Amino acid sequence: MITDPAALGFHVGGVFVPTMGALHAGHARLVEVARGLADRRGGAVVVSVFVNPTQFNDPADLARYPRTLEADVEVCRRAGADVVFAPGVGAVYPPGAAVGPGELPEVATRPGLEDAHRPGHFAGVCQVVRRLFELVRPRAAVFGEKDWQQLQVVCAMTERERLGVEIVPVPTVREADGLAMSSRNVFLTADARSRAAAIPRALCEACATASVDAAETRMREMLAAAGLEVEYAVVRDPATLMPLAAAARQGRALVAARTRSGTGTVRLIDNAPWAQGPAC
Ligand code: PAF
Repeated sequence: MITDPAALGFHVGGVFVPTMGALHAGHARLVEVARGLADRRGGAVVVSVFVNPTQFNDPADLARYPRTLEADVEVCRRAGADVVFAPGVGAVYPPGAAVGPGELPEVATRPGLEDAHRPGHFAGVCQVVRRLFELVRPRAAVFGEKDWQQLQVVCAMTERERLGVEIVPVPTVREADGLAMSSRNVFLTADARSRAAAIPRALCEACATASVDAAETRMREMLAAAGLEVEYAVVRDPATLMPLAAAARQGRALVAARTRSGTGTVRLIDNAPWAQGPAC
């Protein structure tokens, strides 16, 4: 494991997997994909573990974010990583150095999805991803499709700023009942866990509907019936995440919902491809 960015010099030009730790099977899949790419094209697999304070709009969420570095290193080793880079805050954001988010791409500010529900989140993501790219200097970087809007934001930023990093998307890894793997799943009580399973079911049922409107209505109904508080349940353009024409036949279905869990609530997001008709 490396904590000093200077030691990364040997690994420039490899395949990078940025994470915030609390690694699960979904992250292991990202590392395996990175390993496959590195084996075919050369270079090391570098995984970063850094809980980025600037992307949390809720200080309580940052405070309780799980930190499991020792176990994370083991997940990385088993999945084929060469290097785990776990820098301190001072190495990523050196005092006195200006590390800005740059001008955010429209997909980070316009859709009214994560951008609206987590103000400041994508400014923090762009800031840290750009900074980690600067430190790690990868040729390619692997991102999960679970955070679909984040993936589009990173693609748009990388392209617009010509960062010269290929962004490789990896499909979401799911539990047996379809629930997307997430570091936040550890906060789900048994009751909350069974309510949460309505999310992949709703995404799947949305596919059997005849229109965007019908898909959105069906998802909202199913999530509410399961006792979830819906933040959004929409079908959007997969790249811009802006609303589709009513007659659109394909898009991306995206959901954010909260469930009660013990004395608090847990916020979950998920998404899936949407096509008009019985596609699931
Ligand atoms: O998806 C995440 O875990 C984080 O947003 C990322 C990309 C590692 C940036 O902190």
